[in-house]
Amino acid sequence: MTRLLEQQVRFNYSPKLVPDTEKRKVRNMSFIICDTSGVSQQLYLDRLKALMPEREVQIWPEEPNQPETVKYALVWKPPAQLFETYKNIKAVFNLGAGVDALLEDQMVPEHLPIIRLIDPLLDRGMIEYVTWAVLRYHRLLHLYEGFQTQKQWTPLAATDARKTRVGILGLGQLGQGCADMLCRLNLQVMGWSRSPKDIAGVATYHGETGLNEMLAQSDILVCLLPLTSQTCGMLNADLYAKLPKGAKVINVARGPHLIVEDTLAALESGQLEHVTLDVFPTEPLTADSPLWHHPKVTVTPHIASQTVPDSAIETIVANVQRLEAGKEPQGLVQRDHGY
Ligand SMILES: NC(=O)c1ccc[n+]([C@@H]2O[C@H](COP(=O)([O-])OP(=O)(O)OC[C@H]3O[C@@H](n4cnc5c(N)ncnc54)[C@H](OP(=O)(O)O)[C@@H]3O)[C@@H](O)[C@H]2O)c1
Repeated sequence: MTRLLEQQVRFNYSPKLVPDTEKRKVRNMSFIICDTSGVSQQLYLDRLKALMPEREVQIWPEEPNQPETVKYALVWKPPAQLFETYKNIKAVFNLGAGVDALLEDQMVPEHLPIIRLIDPLLDRGMIEYVTWAVLRYHRLLHLYEGFQTQKQWTPLAATDARKTRVGILGLGQLGQGCADMLCRLNLQVMGWSRSPKDIAGVATYHGETGLNEMLAQSDILVCLLPLTSQTCGMLNADLYAKLPKGAKVINVARGPHLIVEDTLAALESGQLEHVTLDVFPTEPLTADSPLWHHPKVTVTPHIASQTVPDSAIETIVANVQRLEAGKEPQGLVQRDHGY
């Protein structure tokens, strides 16, 4: 790429100044957007066109137009045919943080870099949700909500944030953001990750022994792990048995992290006092699921942190510019780790 083009791409250039040959090259680095949730496709398209007016943007599953010119795919749960139709794709940008769906069945050809979404508003959404769910338990609001339905006026003893212990499974982009906020609220914060970490104010653990140590102290356990072969089904009877009796669990990662039958049994026995679930093995949660009406379960429809289209596209455009300047994009997925 010429210096001129590099600079123009980087600084959101004015098309008037671009020679025809350069315009053609830029057009030949066009995009396909495939958001099978369908909700925000048009919003992604509008923002991308506004930020990169020289690029062609196609929408899946419209009739492909010169598919060989498409270099970047912006996707959420795409079908495998996308990669058969657009054979010259150079990089795949996921429109969310979790890439488990993309790594399933080796859908994305091995040679293609997958870049997950690291976006300030995605972080913010998760921090808000986890802070709400943790504070609700810490301040016993889940109990007061039950009291209200009984017209019951029963003040319970005050709780002390310094004594409420929160364990976070996963200390990545989202886990660390939540840990930081919970520390600022003076809660006792712990976190577990694959590799050792040193985070101010957070007691960190790794490995099997570290996990058991953290679980034994977690009054509230938050799951923010990626879904991989190692983490699938982790929230099960064995893990619950290692928590203090009456612990609360918040799963905001992926549905298959949690074994529903084990969770219901632990609620029944009192090993768990309450759970907050944002994600489920089958989504939408089926009408016959016992989770809907369970008095000790709070259900939300996978909204803990939702992609905000404008912000996501701005982040992705910055990453495209990084790639085109020969730099490593932010959020490059390590396929051998599975996240
Ligand atoms: N409910 C929602 O609305 C929603 C929204 C966004 C994301 N999510 C979920 O949140 C997940 C986490 O996102 P993120 O951006 O924080 O991911 P991330 O930055 O990749 O962090 C993942 C963390 O998990 C740790 N980890 C991975 N495998 C592990 C293992 N086997 N044992 C121990 N620790 C392990 C990693 O350890 P290292 O630090 O050592 O690598 C890292 O700390 C996503 O994968 C997605 O599934 C849900």
